[in-house]
Amino acid sequence: MKPVRLAILGLGTVGGGALKLLQENAAEIARRTGRDIQITHVGTRRPRPDLNLDGIAQSNDLLSIVRQDNVDIVIEVIGGTSQAHDVVLEAIRHGKHVVTANKALLAEHGNELFREAEQHNVQIAFEAAVAGGIPIIKVMREGLAANKIEWLAGIINGTGNFILTEMRDKGRAFADVLKEAQELGYAEADPTFDVEGIDAAHKLTLLASIAFGIPLQFEKVYTEGISKLTAQDVNYAEELGYRIKHLGVARRLAHGIELRVHPTLIPESRLIANVNGVKNAVLVQSNAVGPTLYYGAGAGAGPTASAVVADVLDLVRFISTQNNASYVPHLAFQPDALADTPILA
Ligand code: HSE
Repeated sequence: MKPVRLAILGLGTVGGGALKLLQENAAEIARRTGRDIQITHVGTRRPRPDLNLDGIAQSNDLLSIVRQDNVDIVIEVIGGTSQAHDVVLEAIRHGKHVVTANKALLAEHGNELFREAEQHNVQIAFEAAVAGGIPIIKVMREGLAANKIEWLAGIINGTGNFILTEMRDKGRAFADVLKEAQELGYAEADPTFDVEGIDAAHKLTLLASIAFGIPLQFEKVYTEGISKLTAQDVNYAEELGYRIKHLGVARRLAHGIELRVHPTLIPESRLIANVNGVKNAVLVQSNAVGPTLYYGAGAGAGPTASAVVADVLDLVRFISTQNNASYVPHLAFQPDALADTPILA
């Protein structure tokens, strides 16, 4: 069978990580999918002499790459919402499946992009957009599919959790830890997204849409970050037996759905209070299984690449089974009453 052909747009932390992982685990991946994967194009402006780009066409004309015939799947990891929007839309219109780690793009433009993807019979996969390496999207769309989700609450920004942990454990200054998070490749290109809760609100928007079958409504999320927290706040919480954690919460209530992101005091005996460093955790309360908890690395090259490449495998299987009708889309709005459910202010 012909190999499935990929274009990787963006060779930063995540794109470089995905390329390395696809090359390193090529044999396992081929065994698991029954298909070889060929990276035909990379779209990048920056030189990456540390990567093996032999035999891969390299260009910074991203629109031209996504129009190529020898591309089946486009991996968008350039970030941002402007160029990424145009490139993803063009890819969809040219019949390419898309894998993206871009939560901002999907939270803000997803309603349009998913509609367009449906019209062109292609998939948009976004496991890497939420909680890094934790397969939380897979869990929500498949593992918990039999349940009615009652609420979910999670630490879904690794940079913020890293900052709070280092402030508490080592008494480090906020700005100093943020700088380290940037150096480690955890933070967003604009780190105010991390510390003002915007990144967590993007991710919560995606989770809530899957959990409750509602359209993406990022603008309705109550959003508060951690930038105003001081070492004193963290220490007082500790003295009282609590930890401060930055949570994203989505709850189904009688008259609507509540979406909020803010710092929260959690008793230190609770599991989620003990999620430290760049780790994320998502607690999901569902009506049949009850509470389930998912934990793992929330940011960084390896964990995020793990999720990107898992989506590639998922789509390779989809393509190999000739667009199998039983494929579970990453996002599907339910045309039922919940689609009109108000988001409570
Ligand atoms: N800046 C994000 C975080 C990256 O720290 O969680 C992963 O989405």
